Amino acid sequence: SAERPFQIALIPGDGIGKEVAPEGVRVVEAAARRHGIHLRFTEIGWASCDHWRAHGTMMPADWKAQLQGMDALFFGAVGWPADVPDHVSLWGSLLQFRREFDQYVNLRPVRLFDGVPCPLAGRQPGDIDYLIVRENTEGEYTNIGGTMWPGTEREVVLQQSVFSRRGTDRVLKYAFELAASRPRHKLTVATKSNGMAVSMPWWDSRADAMAADYPQIAVDKQHIDILSARFVLQPDRFDVVVASNLFGDILSDLGPASVGTIGIAPSANLNPERSFPSLFEPVHGSAPDIHGKGIANPIAMIWSGAMMLDFLTDGTGAGRAAHDDIVRAIEGVLREGPRTPDLGGRASTSELGRAVAERL
Ligand code: NAI
Ligand code: MG
Repeated sequence: SAERPFQIALIPGDGIGKEVAPEGVRVVEAAARRHGIHLRFTEIGWASCDHWRAHGTMMPADWKAQLQGMDALFFGAVGWPADVPDHVSLWGSLLQFRREFDQYVNLRPVRLFDGVPCPLAGRQPGDIDYLIVRENTEGEYTNIGGTMWPGTEREVVLQQSVFSRRGTDRVLKYAFELAASRPRHKLTVATKSNGMAVSMPWWDSRADAMAADYPQIAVDKQHIDILSARFVLQPDRFDVVVASNLFGDILSDLGPASVGTIGIAPSANLNPERSFPSLFEPVHGSAPDIHGKGIANPIAMIWSGAMMLDFLTDGTGAGRAAHDDIVRAIEGVLREGPRTPDLGGRASTSELGRAVAERL
């Protein structure tokens, strides 16, 4: 068609980010071609420790202007702790994107696949298949607070949380809509209203108010401590889980860890209104310990690319079909191989990427 292509900034970053990014592009391009979706990738070398070594900053001063016209950012991983402290590399790149582009939904699917050994005993594929929606801009993660009388007996440290009605309602709404779009119509709301006696009862009241608009959704409110236990003991009871920034951060590592290798876990950082580009990235980091060996598992990057195609076309039609094709191809490769070493095999990064692409 003559439609304008989607503009995608490809930002490989550091370490294995640079190794898995080409495999992500290979598969995304193949699926897009089959479904008539037009993409234009622009490769970006900054937001990396290479850029920091050359210029002393992670990104150029006009980074936001350079990315503003993009529809999506397809991001590998950032970090090279031997040269650049992690808070410098992360705050100088990824966290700028999340914050400045108001990517207030962090979405992570958790799914057990045939062929990937599950660390939880007795679980079969199909038992674990849920989505974590984490608030990504406010809540417990703020820089508001301070220290008085440091280094003395009277030392006092305060760290404030920020829960806004706007920020809470918009992430809850996203989660309710997501639950409404899935067959089980089930939403778990993470809380801790018995401990955090100001913010969390209020968070619960916002969830109750929104639930009134979604009578078809079964809402299950759980304190974060027992919720974490149930991720391990009863993962089959979850469908969509929504949580504040801190609770969601923890759940969104626990969930993917409970279904096997970190090498397959994808994520999306979304600005659902599309005022700014959204960002799609594997959960894992730059893995300096295996960088350069060509053995990184590219599936997390590839699956993140599938989420990107789905989001770009609003979860309907061509993008949804392309997404589902990629996930089916991933299923096939995980079941029948080839496998990278983290999956117990000896295949290389590009062998896996090609195997997924061929199944399309
Ligand atoms: P990591 O995720 O890079 O690695 C943890 C372990 O998992 C390592 O043993 C690694 O070899 C393995 N691993 C990770 N991805 C894999 C893959 N695709 N295939 C096979 N094995 C894989 O986490 P780590 O070591 O804590 O951090 C390394 C660097 O990455 C640091 O600079 C950190 O700040 C950064 N980082 C960046 C993230 C991002 O860009 N979103 C997220 C997490 C860490
Ligand atoms: Mg985390």
